[in-house]
Order: sequence, then structure tokens, then C-alpha cells
Amino acid sequence: MRKFPPFLVFSIVLCFQSSSFMALKRERTLAMIKPDGIDGNFTDRIKQVILENGFIIVQELMVQLVVENATTFYSEHSAKSFFPNLVEYMTSGPVLAMVIEKTNGISEWRALIGPTDAGKARVTHPHSIRAMCGSSTQRNCVHGSDSSLAAAREILFFFGDISAGAVAVEHDEL
Ligand SMILES: *[C@@H]1O[C@H](CO)[C@@H](O)[C@H](O)[C@H]1NC(C)=O
Ligand SMILES: *[C@@H]1O[C@H](CO)[C@@H](O)[C@H](O)[C@H]1NC(C)=O
Repeated sequence: MRKFPPFLVFSIVLCFQSSSFMALKRERTLAMIKPDGIDGNFTDRIKQVILENGFIIVQELMVQLVVENATTFYSEHSAKSFFPNLVEYMTSGPVLAMVIEKTNGISEWRALIGPTDAGKARVTHPHSIRAMCGSSTQRNCVHGSDSSLAAAREILFFFGDISAGAVAVEHDEL
């Protein structure tokens, strides 16, 4: 029978231990600066906040969405009364889509942008990004994926299958 070198066994045990110690996972999420954020010249400030909070920007893409794109991206809202307005707003100017990455990146980015209603954000989360650059529930200047499923779908929407060759290191998967 083959014997494994002791140091190898030791390192594997160490890996398992450290991974169960920190159930922390590096995650990629989709961040988007919406037309009002671009138009209000908030792009540089928002990127600065992203970097200052320990995210890396993996990829970015400035794009003008057409009706078909916005309809696809927000398809889960297609039955809502605000949908036509939402599509009109999202196609009113270019957006900046970014794949950003950090430990627990999905919830960290949601926390950083603050509540959907930017007016409310000013009161309850004055240091959030939406408090800085948004003005209402719809014109709230930034988007963040709300789950890992949404992050995967939304990154695919803008960037294609970028994760195929370059998956982020996930420390709790061995
Ligand atoms: C944004 O910057 C452009 C170019 O510097 C300027 O023309 C425009 O007035 C600015 N818009 C706002 C809302 O500050
Ligand atoms: C937006 O729609 C156009 C036309 O259908 C398509 O060519 C383009 O790939 C779409 N862009 C995105 C980001 O989905």
C-alpha cells in the first residue's frame, strides 16, 4: 500500500480545519451604476467607495441598454405596474456594469448600497451609496444582485460565461 508523506497529510488536515473555522466565502456579485448615477457624475465616487470597502473590480462594461435588454434583465418584475417606467428609465442613458468581488460580497454590496428607496436611505442609512446619489425608489442610482442565483444570472447577462475559466477561490469548498 502507498504511504502518503506525513507533511501532505498534515497540510490537508490544516486546510480542513481552517476552512471550517471561517465559513467565509469570496463571492462575485453584479454592481451596476444606473443612468441617473452616470448622468449625475457619481461614477468615480461610487468606484472609490467600492475599492475603499475592500472589493476588487473584476470586470466592467459601460453599455447603453435597449428595451429588449432591460425587459430581459428585469423579467421578474414584468407584471408589475411600474415595469414600463422602469424599462424607460433603464434605457434612458448608459449604465456601468461591474463584476465586483469580496468575502461575502453579495450581502456586503447590498449593505453598502442601502435601502431601495433612496429617500428613505437618506434618513435611515445616511452613509449608504443610495443616500449619496439616489432620489427615489426607482431612481436609486445603483443595483446589486440580491442572491447568489441572481448574481450568477446577472453576471452572465452582461459578461457571458466569465466564471468558467476563472472561478473565485471559495474557501469552504475543498
Ligand atoms: C457632469 O459632468 C459633465 C462634464 O464634466 C457636466 O457637463 C455636467 O453638467 C455634470 N452633471 C452634473 C449633474 O453635475
Ligand atoms: C442587448 O440587446 C441587443 C439587441 O437585441 C443585443 O445584441 C445585446 O447583446 C444585448 N446586450 C446585453 C448586455 O444583453
